[in-house]
Amino acid sequence: DKARAAGGSAFSFTEVEAGVDATHHVAEGYDADVLLRWGDALFADSPAFDPMAQTAAAQERQFGYNNDYVGFIPLEGSSEHGLLVVNHEYTNPHLMFPGLVTIVDGKVKQGALSKDQVDVEMAAHGGTVVEIRKVNGKWQVVPEGKLNRRITVNTEMQLSGPVAGHDRVKTNADATGQKVFGTLNNCAGGVTPWGTYIMAEENFHGYFSGELPAGHAEAGNYERYGVPEGGYEWANFYDRFDLSKEPNEPNRFGWIVEVDVMDPTSVPKKRTALGRTKHEGAESIVAENGKVVFYLGDDERFDYVYKFVTDGTYNPDDRTANMDLLDAGTLYVAKFNEDGTMTWLPLVHGQGPLTTENGFASQADVLIETRRAGDLLGATKMDRPEDVQPNGVNGKVYVMLTNNTKRKADQIDAANPRAENAFGHIIEIEEDGGDFTATSGKWEVLLKCGDPSVAEVGATFSTETTKNGWFGMPDNCAVDAAGRLWVSTDGNSNKATGRTDGLWAVDTEGDARATSKLFFRVPVGAEMCGPLFTPDDETAFVAVQHPGDGGEDWDGHGRPSYYEDLSTRWPDFKDDMPVRPAVVAITKIGGGKIAV
Ligand code: FEO
Ligand code: CA
Ligand code: CA
Ligand code: CA
Repeated sequence: DKARAAGGSAFSFTEVEAGVDATHHVAEGYDADVLLRWGDALFADSPAFDPMAQTAAAQERQFGYNNDYVGFIPLEGSSEHGLLVVNHEYTNPHLMFPGLVTIVDGKVKQGALSKDQVDVEMAAHGGTVVEIRKVNGKWQVVPEGKLNRRITVNTEMQLSGPVAGHDRVKTNADATGQKVFGTLNNCAGGVTPWGTYIMAEENFHGYFSGELPAGHAEAGNYERYGVPEGGYEWANFYDRFDLSKEPNEPNRFGWIVEVDVMDPTSVPKKRTALGRTKHEGAESIVAENGKVVFYLGDDERFDYVYKFVTDGTYNPDDRTANMDLLDAGTLYVAKFNEDGTMTWLPLVHGQGPLTTENGFASQADVLIETRRAGDLLGATKMDRPEDVQPNGVNGKVYVMLTNNTKRKADQIDAANPRAENAFGHIIEIEEDGGDFTATSGKWEVLLKCGDPSVAEVGATFSTETTKNGWFGMPDNCAVDAAGRLWVSTDGNSNKATGRTDGLWAVDTEGDARATSKLFFRVPVGAEMCGPLFTPDDETAFVAVQHPGDGGEDWDGHGRPSYYEDLSTRWPDFKDDMPVRPAVVAITKIGGGKIAV
């Protein structure tokens, strides 16, 4: 171990003051440079961003909206030259399109979207693959990069694994049940050991509208997933988002998508063996026996934590040999026992209740209805499982549980110990024998989140944690090369406490365990996504999502829209430029590892 800072913390930096204002703040001694903003050029021929006249064609050549997951795939092993992969989770039309929002009788009124605006939204979703390089200590985009790519709702993808070609994924446009266009609501994700980019499809239900034909066989399935939610207006222009016209289309979303970034023309694959849920992300680790283990959260109140263990083993010497590892393996769902042990229950057709009598005719049915399979197996209903991160240094796994205000007092259990859990918690798993493929393990609560100075909250940060150091709503997380845990939040922003979301360094070892320090905070209205460290720990990439957005906690900020009464125009602060989501690169001034 490196020499530890005061209190035994593994992190050495001067904490940022919690608070809220129009811009971001990083710990003293660090630079936080905006690297990529919504609309920025990704190719030599990308049109300049014109926020007053954005088009889908332009958007397809530019960085998308609401950056969430950030991954880094080194080129030739470099920590200073590689591919940045970024998910574009969703769109905020009221912040994107001028004139969409008006004030009528003092009330915010949002107009209907035109087809052109919907097309922009569809092109602003998906992902970005872009070459970046560090020059004289500063990161730059390489617009000539041969591997640069935008993935959107119109990108052709292939369903692969056990569900491919099944009747339940066939549509009028695709009689094969194998060819899908696009990916939706890509929240967190991952990079595999063989250097592919994983995009997790999360809240896909929001894109569908309309009603299933009466008595349709998918009614129960869709109810379990909240389909349709109708939050988007895409069905007004595209039949496939209208359940009355394309009843099977929702079964083609909610998957883990794998992208071979080394071939910009590759067809991304929806790896159905990993199940269909509102996938938060898919972070992975190679187990001692060479199998690869993916940890998966299903982000909904009372839903489950999963892991997937490949049948095959990882070949570090032959990238091609790994390319279909995700098509065969075992998906497990977690049962957290009251005594601190846990069991990983296999979701395998024919085993236990996953039978024809219960409506599962094959493994494809088990995977299409992953949630119902988990229900029947008696998995533990969690407080919104977000990022689940294996730590290769200490051998443990960290589960972010963001919150669940709907949990009642008679629904608490050891793994979800607080009723009306407004601030979330973090669970630490230790697989039996330190083997990530194990089907049993132990777990404990690392941290109950929230303000420790408010006794009834019941937070369990260490006494070393300052008033700036506590947080609520853990969402994304990262483990750096030194094995240290970093947690970013969604919903910590609160008018009453005058704080924003941010990135916190959380000790997991020794006397400092459960000590947290604030390293970076976002501008008003934003949430914190990413984070991701380069292999040399000298850069932390963070994603500032939906800056300037409104919502209940910020009435009068963010809404109505960027051209009136907005609290921030981050990161440009120009009258003719809207507030923009952006990825930020954090480096130590003068160079060196972060927080050491
Ligand atoms: Fe997109 Fe689970 O947050
Ligand atoms: Ca998330
Ligand atoms: Ca992560
Ligand atoms: Ca989030």
